[in-house]
Amino acid sequence: MTAVGGSFRAPVPWFPLPARLAVLLSGRGSNFEALADACDSGALPARIVLVLSDRADAAGLEKARARGIAAAVEERGGEPRAAHEARLAGRIRSAGTDVVCLAGFMRVLSPAFVERFERRIVNVHPSLLPAFPGLEAQRQAFEHGVKVAGATVHLVDAGTDTGPIAGQEAVPVRPGEDAANLAARILEAEHRLYPATLAALLDGGWVIEGRCLRFPAPGNTEA
Ligand code: GAR
Repeated sequence: MTAVGGSFRAPVPWFPLPARLAVLLSGRGSNFEALADACDSGALPARIVLVLSDRADAAGLEKARARGIAAAVEERGGEPRAAHEARLAGRIRSAGTDVVCLAGFMRVLSPAFVERFERRIVNVHPSLLPAFPGLEAQRQAFEHGVKVAGATVHLVDAGTDTGPIAGQEAVPVRPGEDAANLAARILEAEHRLYPATLAALLDGGWVIEGRCLRFPAPGNTEA
């Protein structure tokens, strides 16, 4: 990505394709699977070179191994956050990662970590940001009584769920449905949105101005 007078423009493509992805997760790993499926089908011109978890019991690790994808664990013991993040960063770098994909990674990354991979960390969040950042976003939205919930894919900055928005999918709340049903439908939206938005990011040519990420008009392949 190159600086253009106060804004940033991603090259075309963003990284040489297939791009090399590291997926960070803490649990189930269904978004990881959606990304891996999209890589396998060719819908996403990328390869997952590493699945990395902060929890040894994350089900996503086994799902990665079953696909023949390298899976590693870096738990944080009693050590300072900086030391843990240095180990995460070392793994990510030695895998030759282009883009770090957070997929249910339930740790807030420090500004120093984010700076190491500036504008190269992507996250999926289960709400229409900037509404309902943080934990249990689906429940927050349900309990707030929203009529339209949804999912967001965004670049990660130093704040919590505050980075430039790259993609969103709305999920209208159905009369009478409960929080669990809504969360399940938001998850389905995440599985569509994450690979599709990442594919658009990999195409490159998008610009960040202030807090806004703007994609080029269709057909405009200007680098
Ligand atoms: C997903 O709903 C994801 O959006 C959420 O955790 C879940 C992980 O599910 N992430 C966050 O809330 C981050 N703020 P998965 O492990 O099945 O992909």
